[in-house]
Amino acid sequence: MTKNEFEKPEDIDWEFFWKKILKSEKSKPKDWNKEARSFTKRSKQDEYRENFLSKLDLNKEFTAVDLGCGEGSITIPLSKHLKNLTAIDSSENMLEILDERLKEKNITNVNIINKTIEDVNVNEIGKHDIVLASRSMNGIIPIKQTIQNINEIAEKYVYMTIFGSNSWKFEKGFYRSLGKENQHYAPYYYLFNILVSMGIYPNVETLGIEKTRTYESVFDAMENGKWRLDSLSDDEKKKLRTYLKENLIENDEGKLFHPDDRADWVLFWWKK
Ligand SMILES: C[S@@+](CC[C@H](N)C(=O)[O-])C[C@H]1O[C@@H](n2cnc3c(N)ncnc32)[C@H](O)[C@@H]1O
Repeated sequence: MTKNEFEKPEDIDWEFFWKKILKSEKSKPKDWNKEARSFTKRSKQDEYRENFLSKLDLNKEFTAVDLGCGEGSITIPLSKHLKNLTAIDSSENMLEILDERLKEKNITNVNIINKTIEDVNVNEIGKHDIVLASRSMNGIIPIKQTIQNINEIAEKYVYMTIFGSNSWKFEKGFYRSLGKENQHYAPYYYLFNILVSMGIYPNVETLGIEKTRTYESVFDAMENGKWRLDSLSDDEKKKLRTYLKENLIENDEGKLFHPDDRADWVLFWWKK
């Protein structure tokens, strides 16, 4: 394809490029069922939840849909600020943990649905004041149709977060040392262009996470769920262990960290 095939920038089909990355060999969907327990532990490590929640316009009269709710790290704190919440996820294990946590905390205004985000539509779940998709949109292949469905559900606001450009900085160093690229997901500005092509002009902001991840050990750092261990050969896994040993630094509490190893999330939101 040559540059001149596009007459104008508006002709670029950003969804085509978004899908191309997700469908490539390198991009295997994550198995959230396997990761449910470790995600719960990881999700408490930084200030993402507080930052994300502080951006939402909440009201005790509002109803909301939480797409890709996971084990409820957003659903649970949100539930006390809303009339009710519909929490949707495709991972049964994540929903099992969410259900346990809701029962433990006596929260009764959350309705759980086991479903993929791609299959959610207004005919089935009706209209809601807010639709949010926190950290769950990066792997959605039919992105335009899914956003169209989401937009039909939302009466007041849509909020979604996806990986920012510094999200995989620490991992990149390792993959480069192997002579490999690690692009599993499309850059966030593809989503911006997809939204604009749909006539949606979102507000875009970086959530600015300062805290780096910390690990008990090199083993813990390898198993934290960020590394796609299933796509590495035994030799590459050995190299990863060495990379982590050489690059992780011990903090005052004896935990391991790296300054580039932190979450980077970009929030897209728009008013209906
Ligand atoms: C990173 S966790 C985010 C959980 C929670 N929203 C948060 O921000 O803490 C991603 C969640 O999205 C869910 N998910 C990812 N893709 C999905 C899809 N296509 N349909 C339904 N759920 C999906 C996963 O099962 C997982 O529970």
